[in-house]
Amino acid sequence: MNSFASRIIRWQQRHGRHALPWQDTRDPYRIWLSEIMLQQTQVATVIPYFERFVARFPDLAALAAAHEDEVLALWSGLGYYSRARNLHATARRLAAERDGLFPDSPDAIAQLPGIGRSTAAAIAALAFGQPCAILDGNVKRVLARHGGIAGWPGDKKVEAALWQLAESRLPRAAIEPYTQGMMDLGALVCTRSQPACTNCPVAADCVARECGRTAELPTPRPKKALPDRQVQMLMLLDRGELMLEKRPAQGIWGGLWSLPELAPGTDPIRHCRERFGFVALERQELPRFVHSFTHFRLHIRPVRLHLAPRAATPPGQIWLPLADALDAALPAPIRKLVNQLDCP
Ligand code: ADE
Repeated sequence: MNSFASRIIRWQQRHGRHALPWQDTRDPYRIWLSEIMLQQTQVATVIPYFERFVARFPDLAALAAAHEDEVLALWSGLGYYSRARNLHATARRLAAERDGLFPDSPDAIAQLPGIGRSTAAAIAALAFGQPCAILDGNVKRVLARHGGIAGWPGDKKVEAALWQLAESRLPRAAIEPYTQGMMDLGALVCTRSQPACTNCPVAADCVARECGRTAELPTPRPKKALPDRQVQMLMLLDRGELMLEKRPAQGIWGGLWSLPELAPGTDPIRHCRERFGFVALERQELPRFVHSFTHFRLHIRPVRLHLAPRAATPPGQIWLPLADALDAALPAPIRKLVNQLDCP
């Protein structure tokens, strides 16, 4: 039987993906951007964001020169916004300290903010042809099944075993199609549910398939109930304009524009008067909804207030016509909410 790597490479060349918008280049800027966008996000979601982003910021110098608000606006809806802030900060640092030159070794790349070992290896392999192993979620699934490695891959020991396996399978040449092939196999064939084992180039020696354990591997994360948090969100409207508030740089939705928040049970009309000095004439509760973060579930109660003509706006807030508000860097659930507003 041919080696594991040679079967993956041949399969990638015949059946893998070849037309993704970050594949026709070795430009480390584009490959870096795509790998950051693809962290925790599906390819189909990333494609239009990637295309808009590179159209606006075609190279590292353009990104370094941008205002953070514009970078976040282009990221708006992709989630995990620290990725965008890290990307922007890194572009500035590379422009200032390295003449805009991207480092080419996996260890140096892994020193950059927001880049872990697997992302660094993917960039080093795809942009610079460096022989290094990746281990993202898809590849963990392929290797856990093929090597029959049980245990949750988030567990340090299991992860170490998977890294060791990933390193041991590397080819001597053709690292690019091998790296892409491992990603493609995980995304297209060795899927989480109902893997297409009959189309798999490495099915013949797959331990999970042999033992009938593909449905059990990789072992899922032990279940833990997420804590619930409640919040009211104020939709302050005046003459067709909506008030947005900039979130602190650190924490959830850091640096994005969002709606003012207040604790559940607080009277929104009173809060509006005391905090902003605005008089609200009318209040309307909108349907509640839940947004799940990695560590908690946020129960959001939107309250729409119609204001008497307002006085000065405190710093940290802006008023925007609804159409412009939708162009701002808003978190995805807030964008959805604003999109549903009809305004006189
Ligand atoms: N997921 C992470 N990196 C990827 C890439 N380069 N192509 C497709 N999916 C990916």
